[in-house]
Amino acid sequence: MALGITGQVAVAQQPSPPQMKTFVDALMKKMTLEEKLGQLNLLTSGEVVTGSAVSTGVEAKIKAGQVGAMLNMTKVDDIRKAQQMAVEQSRLKIPLLFGLDVVHGYKTTFPIPLALSCSWDMNMIERSARVAAMEASAVGINWTFSPMVDIARDARWGRIAEGSGEDPYLGSQIAAAMVRGYQGNNFADNSNILACVKHFALYGAAEAGRDYNTTDMSRVRMYNEYFPPYKAAIDAGAATVMTSFNEVDGIPATGNKWLMTDVLRRQWDFKGFVVTDYTAINEMMAHGMGDLAQVSALALNAGTDMDMVGEGFTGTIAQSLKAGKVNINTIDAACRRILEAKYKLGLFTDPYRNCKGDRSAELYTPEKRMEARKAATESFVLLRNQQQLLPLKKQGSIALIGPLAHSRVNMTGTWSVSADITQHPSLLEALQKEVGNAVKINYAKGANLTADSMLEVNSTMFGRSLNRDARSAAELRKEALEAAAKSDIIVAALGESSEMSGECASRTDIGIPDTQKELLQALTATGKPVVLVLFAGRPLTLPWENEHIPAILNVWFGGCEAGAAIADVLFGAVNPSGKLTTSFPQNIGQLPLYYSHKNTGRPLAGNDTWFTKFRSNYLDVSNEPLYPFGYGLSYTTFSYSDIRLSANQFKPGGNIKATVTVTNTGKYDGVEIVQLYTRDMVGSIARPVKELKGFQRIALKAGASQEITFTITENDLKFFNNELKYAAEPGLFKLFIGGNSRDVKETTFTLL
Ligand code: BGC
Repeated sequence: MALGITGQVAVAQQPSPPQMKTFVDALMKKMTLEEKLGQLNLLTSGEVVTGSAVSTGVEAKIKAGQVGAMLNMTKVDDIRKAQQMAVEQSRLKIPLLFGLDVVHGYKTTFPIPLALSCSWDMNMIERSARVAAMEASAVGINWTFSPMVDIARDARWGRIAEGSGEDPYLGSQIAAAMVRGYQGNNFADNSNILACVKHFALYGAAEAGRDYNTTDMSRVRMYNEYFPPYKAAIDAGAATVMTSFNEVDGIPATGNKWLMTDVLRRQWDFKGFVVTDYTAINEMMAHGMGDLAQVSALALNAGTDMDMVGEGFTGTIAQSLKAGKVNINTIDAACRRILEAKYKLGLFTDPYRNCKGDRSAELYTPEKRMEARKAATESFVLLRNQQQLLPLKKQGSIALIGPLAHSRVNMTGTWSVSADITQHPSLLEALQKEVGNAVKINYAKGANLTADSMLEVNSTMFGRSLNRDARSAAELRKEALEAAAKSDIIVAALGESSEMSGECASRTDIGIPDTQKELLQALTATGKPVVLVLFAGRPLTLPWENEHIPAILNVWFGGCEAGAAIADVLFGAVNPSGKLTTSFPQNIGQLPLYYSHKNTGRPLAGNDTWFTKFRSNYLDVSNEPLYPFGYGLSYTTFSYSDIRLSANQFKPGGNIKATVTVTNTGKYDGVEIVQLYTRDMVGSIARPVKELKGFQRIALKAGASQEITFTITENDLKFFNNELKYAAEPGLFKLFIGGNSRDVKETTFTLL
């Protein structure tokens, strides 16, 4: 954005404002209709590209009081200049908000959200959001478009990478932790920024996993399975909400009054403001909801307050007001909510609170990078480790092979718009640093990302090029096999590029791409031990790999310190502890796939795991995932005792305690994530076969045991019934405790 203003910014010395209502009332009395609509207008600088429309005439609009907020600016000087235009050159001097997708860190990037969720470490996740807020606020950002809390159960959907997986309970804990991290306790601390919970609602249920596609589901399912994380973020105080692109009950979320007003504001008591997703108002025309004036009025009347980039509000609402299609009270309410957010942030006291002075020393510090490295080690999931192939010893020689082995720009993962992606060490560089002269590393690229060059182009956008090699697949493979021949062990760094997941990155084949798979098969055929270091933004289908590759470490995209973190785990400085938060399917035909499914009227009987006629199953594959929700190995092993209950029944208002003894039965100290599930055996609606109700992340020394106790109350057993009443129903429950959703100890209790 060329802002054309130079010179020092004088920090506004305003008196501290009186009470919010008095202040906003007084301000709104002075505002023209055009200025009110200006507050509802969010424009992009175009510096970062997150949608196809670009705002024009931004400077003039800011000075004319026609802009309430900007997005996609990352440079503090530009932000300061834009703020200066608003508070020194516009008539009413109302400061701007500056929003950005600070999704998993600002400069210090943490693992992608799906990876972070696999840590099940709420303190660390909260801390990652805190670090992101500290850094973003240092360059003038005061609003992040995060957390993304969409439940996702279809791995074809590329945006599964941006959320916390398939489970509403875990997703809710994470949503709240992230809001706490971004917003802190109050906005007096200028490192706290506004959170924006997105994408409200149901975006993750896009049909067939195709981005922006239709969703359609029952309200019982919405309330029980998809709404909880949004609600948890709002209960934690999220200041803003972003609408989703999809329709809900036939009406696009952005124009859906039931969703934005009845559910969000009336039922959940949300007091902040609602922003659309990028041009979501305008897109309602393509949904078939009318022309721009109609869809803009629809959005405003539904309870949407701010229009992201589309300028439908500034362009048409004045006309609609004259025509009686919208009411001035609705415009005032939206304007007030936005002014209140600015007031709460303290922008009327000091509009430059986040963009004065030089806080660049706070960015990307060694301490913050160390936190990111630790977070990354916690997010990796060890899927296989036959004969204890891992951890590796720092000796001999390693063939490091694959298109992801030496690509700095593919380490941070999708949605790292403010990271210096060329600066973070590649896996090769990080391993070399880690092993020094102790290990000889023989590197070869081995394959291009995909055979199809166009697919590679589309999967490596935003500066993520893998520098497509002009050599043939056979030539690349030959070089890799030569490197393997010289080495004791093969580490294959394969999988997806950063931009193969994320927005508009859906796939219909979620295996390791063709060329790489052939390479892996050739490497396996050498007979040398192969460790697969799997980069991915979604669960991949790995049936062949599961049969033939002795060790598989799923590293997702681990952020700026991913390389060092992978080295930590490969060489055993850190024992992996991540557990999956999405089920890994055996094949794509099983999708959507999730552990908390219903039993159906024709479940497989008893111990049947394979085909039975007239049962709910497939002819060609079992119903089971390849790796279940909650699954992940360690270099050590854990055993679980039977469950001891404090009682077999309890009354509403009471509780029971369930205890197990967990023992580290292996040779390494390790961390285990102990998971509690229940099943409601009889209900007024059909209930899932298992639901996560609690977890504890514990560190156990080799050989040590610990008693783990969970307390179960009536609250844990509540659900929304067919009348959408939230209550627990008396009766028999199963209770399960284990290290994943499949391998559990089991008992029963009764709610009286
Ligand atoms: C995405 C949002 C994002 C917004 C602003 C949209 O394309 O769907 O998640 O926050 O752009 O960048």
